[in-house]
Amino acid sequence: MKYLKLLVPALFLLTAANAQEQKPQTDKIMKSTEEGKTVYHLPAPSTKGTVSLEETLNSRRSRRNFHPDGVTPAHLSQILWAAYGITRPMEAPTVRGGLRTAPSAGARYPLEIYAVVGNVPGIDPGVYRYDPKAHKITMTNPEDVRKELTAAALNQKMINDAPFSVFFSAIYERITERYGDRGRDRYVCMDLGHSAQNVYLQAEALGLGTCAIGAFTDSKVTEVMQLPENEVPLYIMPIGRSK
Ligand SMILES: Cc1cc2nc3c(=O)[nH]c(=O)nc-3n(C[C@H](O)[C@H](O)[C@H](O)COP(=O)(O)O)c2cc1C
Repeated sequence: MKYLKLLVPALFLLTAANAQEQKPQTDKIMKSTEEGKTVYHLPAPSTKGTVSLEETLNSRRSRRNFHPDGVTPAHLSQILWAAYGITRPMEAPTVRGGLRTAPSAGARYPLEIYAVVGNVPGIDPGVYRYDPKAHKITMTNPEDVRKELTAAALNQKMINDAPFSVFFSAIYERITERYGDRGRDRYVCMDLGHSAQNVYLQAEALGLGTCAIGAFTDSKVTEVMQLPENEVPLYIMPIGRSK
């Protein structure tokens, strides 16, 4: 009840602020440099698919054997959008860009999403932070870290095999400042589950595969990913054409 009381007025204000449709940034991938960092503006995601939701739910599986190639920037764009893309832009500081493809407690969006790129033609290998508002990725590390990330995740070699991985971390303060222990113990991982399921279903619908990986050594993954102090690593989801 307390939750609803807080949430409903906040969302009313946000909805009133800006209810316009999201405009695609571009149809093609565009590389640039912003503040000295490599940036790719991603192709606009598609909101029409070729398989039904029911078919996708029925065929979804955790897939662990990947071809090393055959993944495009359009795939990467579509999967990042499915994970946390903005579907209703809004101007409000806590929402940071707008409502998303996945629900979030109080629209606080605690997750940070990275692409760990190894072999996606048109995108330099490296680690990138996803910016849902601009639908762009910004390089945080120019190295292909798939080997190191595999080692940090109990040698689960699917990470090294896959052309790229989606990586989830969380900034817990975004939720705990409002919901305290309940936010920490429940809401952050509930949010993660929603986003990760979107990735599973989007990968499947694109004819690709993924597997949620939660088994890893936090300190090693934090080091490999060069995460800021306030980010906690949560999931690695390698993406590729399933063998
Ligand atoms: C929280 C969580 C952590 C997981 N961690 C791993 C993992 O580290 N390695 C792995 O191979 N699978 C992992 N999985 C995938 C499960 O093994 C898989 O979902 C389960 O066997 C059911 O198979 P299905 O996803 O194909 O239905 C994880 C799943 C969840 C929900």
